[in-house]
Amino acid sequence: MKIETIILAAGQGSRMKSSLPKVLHPIAGSPMLEHVILSAQTLHARQTNAEGGLHVVIGYGADQVRDRLGNYAANWVEQKEQLGTGHAVKQAAPNCSQADIVLVLYGDVPLIQSTTLASLAAACNGERLALLTINLPNPSGYGRIVRDETGAIQAIVEDKDASSEQHAITEVNTGIMAIPGKRLTAWLENISCKNAQNEYYLTDIVAMAVAEGTAVVHAQPQTATEVQGVNNRAQQAKLERQLQRHIAEKLMASGVTLLDPNRLDVRGSLQAGNDVVIDINCVFEGDVVLEDGVQIGPNCILSNTRIGVGTRIKANSIIDASVIEADCDIGPFSRLRLGTHLADRAKIGNFVETKKAVIGVGSKINHLSYVGDAEIGVDVNVGAGTITCNYDRVNKLRTEIGDGAFIGSNTSLVAPLIVGAGATVGAGSTITHDIPEESLSVARGRQKNIEGWKRPEKKS
Ligand code: UD1
Ligand code: CA
Repeated sequence: MKIETIILAAGQGSRMKSSLPKVLHPIAGSPMLEHVILSAQTLHARQTNAEGGLHVVIGYGADQVRDRLGNYAANWVEQKEQLGTGHAVKQAAPNCSQADIVLVLYGDVPLIQSTTLASLAAACNGERLALLTINLPNPSGYGRIVRDETGAIQAIVEDKDASSEQHAITEVNTGIMAIPGKRLTAWLENISCKNAQNEYYLTDIVAMAVAEGTAVVHAQPQTATEVQGVNNRAQQAKLERQLQRHIAEKLMASGVTLLDPNRLDVRGSLQAGNDVVIDINCVFEGDVVLEDGVQIGPNCILSNTRIGVGTRIKANSIIDASVIEADCDIGPFSRLRLGTHLADRAKIGNFVETKKAVIGVGSKINHLSYVGDAEIGVDVNVGAGTITCNYDRVNKLRTEIGDGAFIGSNTSLVAPLIVGAGATVGAGSTITHDIPEESLSVARGRQKNIEGWKRPEKKS
């Protein structure tokens, strides 16, 4: 079955009160429209003969939307004026002429699941008009599903056009529907804008289908969250929490301890092994992997990072684009930036910043240091307050420290520099030349003691 999916995303979303088009507002770190695109892609990939394409109708902020999501394989169709959902679908319809099923989704209904879409598509099967409906205790604002005495769907009546009797109907149109491709063009031609809002309603095709004897059927989503639309920031926040809760439940089911599942934020993909423990208020961005037994203290932020078996990360640490091997200790208050690689059992302590730093097995940088563009061997001890001076305002320069070296506290290592294996650097040194293996280097003013020296006194 060839499915063509049209995502309606042209609306401004004025109630967001934002310069960003509504569909670019994020849920769990990704634009709402991206969630919908991914669900559609998953549906298309499930098709046995994966045919069909994706069409996104954009209008308000079209350039911004295309700039942000243009990498996805889709036809970006512009709707210059937003004259209604029927008019929006009409803009994309010419590209869908060979479809068995035309699936209509909304860019501001972000959590729709591909499994629900698959059941809706199956209900349509190229022959029937299939509506995704839901029963709501408070249906106001939605189009109502009007059924006859036998329970057959007759029409959708928009809230603003409904009679008081129809207002009482609690089964509503979610807006998502699967349309037999062969009927689409004819139906779209017949939509008029003679209604309370002077809009071209896509929902008018339901009565047309009934009139010509095409069956109209319905499917329902597994949860109401899936079909929840976002019109304002409060609804956005509500969906954010619901999705985060769902992610938290899945993590716990897979063997992760969350000290508080309500205080976890995953903005990307988080893969976690068994017996991982995550304390409160941690944020995970991009692709993060936590291997078995990893422990993460409160208030940590990890982005695009892999953490090896049994590593412990203490409170308030920030790790970005790094690889951490097994059994390391990090934090509290560590900042590991792009290109940090810690080998097994390395230790990074408080107020240490690293960048493009490869740190060998069992090496330690325990306090108050900056280590950048550096390669540090095995069992090296970097004392408190050590700085790699890696930048001369033009170039980034490298520091190499050999196995077993010992760098005394408050040392400046002026790169480019090689500290030989087993070398020792005296505290407070400013090292500007390479140090041979197994030697001591001290580069500071000698201490001079003047006995009996008197402080100057104030003249009276
Ligand atoms: C629509 C349905 C209603 C349903 C409700 C569910 C119609 C006529 N009504 O009403 O039955 O209960 O959704 O939320 O279809 N859009 C465009 N171009 C346009 C108009 C809309 O791209 O010209 C997009 C919007 O950006 C939005 C979606 O289509 O993502 C729905 O439009 P909206 O105006 O919110 O429809 P409703 O009046 O809520
Ligand atoms: Ca709406």
